[in-house]
Amino acid sequence: MEGGKVIARRNDIIFLRKLLRAMKDPKTKFDPSRFASEGRDYLYNYVNENVEPVNEERRTFLKGLIIGVSAVAVLGSIPRVLGYLNQPLTTLPKFPTLLLVDSNGDPVKASDTTLIPVNSPIITLFTYPMVNDPNFILRLGDAQGNEVQVPPAKVTVPATGEVYLFPGGVGPKKSIVAYSAICQHLGCRPPEIHFYPPQYVSPAQLSAADPNLLTPQALAAARAANVPAIIHCDCHGSTYDPYRGAAVLTGPTTRPLPTAELVWDPSTDYLYVTRMIGVPIFGAPNGNDLEGFPLPTMNSDYTGTTEVEATINTFR
Ligand code: FES
Repeated sequence: MEGGKVIARRNDIIFLRKLLRAMKDPKTKFDPSRFASEGRDYLYNYVNENVEPVNEERRTFLKGLIIGVSAVAVLGSIPRVLGYLNQPLTTLPKFPTLLLVDSNGDPVKASDTTLIPVNSPIITLFTYPMVNDPNFILRLGDAQGNEVQVPPAKVTVPATGEVYLFPGGVGPKKSIVAYSAICQHLGCRPPEIHFYPPQYVSPAQLSAADPNLLTPQALAAARAANVPAIIHCDCHGSTYDPYRGAAVLTGPTTRPLPTAELVWDPSTDYLYVTRMIGVPIFGAPNGNDLEGFPLPTMNSDYTGTTEVEATINTFR
């Protein structure tokens, strides 16, 4: 375990308690009107100054919270803000079906490559099924950058020997896939775990700076599996095959990344996320993907939206 890189939800709960304490404290009072006007920057600065430094882990967690906080903060009521943040853990009875939308709330169209380009080095995520669950969304291509069809595949869980079916890519070219972005070894999150496009699956990455550092084992495994690109976790070197259901290419993980099942509606070109497949998301309470803080953009009938966000290009 490397300092600060391993995230468990217990830590999120402890952080949330500290945040609530600071928000209630008259000396460090949270200002909902500033939050309503300044948005996420105010919350990040507030946490930075009054709770703890905001690193990438905290940023991901806060981003999930922001969606809900925004909805109540505009009402200008601290009790409502606190009420949202203080909600108890919930267990959903089933996976929600959420429409993927962009930052304007417009549906993401599968044939539009603007937000999700082929083999993109930009870490692009959406949250599902609960607030603190980031998932990669990838449009996969070959070494030349041509979109490729990603067929269904049987995925083995090395830890148990179990096998499950990865349904393959979706969209007009069946090239779009989505996986949990939390490493199944010890829970590292982006940017430590991320997609390496073909041009970065090369010996040059063996001496790159973290978080773009491949291991020789990862390179050899990509070659042996004949895949041009991989998902790799820089924390301890776990490698996953995005073309075959994020199956394990190298340890220390002994579990694949769970698949976030996407459904494409050809009549509208919209994309939906409908369930998680495979092993439980790392850190899921009691191994239950449906326990946690529900997305505030989810309706009572378990439909709604989740935002696809292009975050950073770590290779720059
Ligand atoms: S957390 Fe250890 S390899 Fe990802």
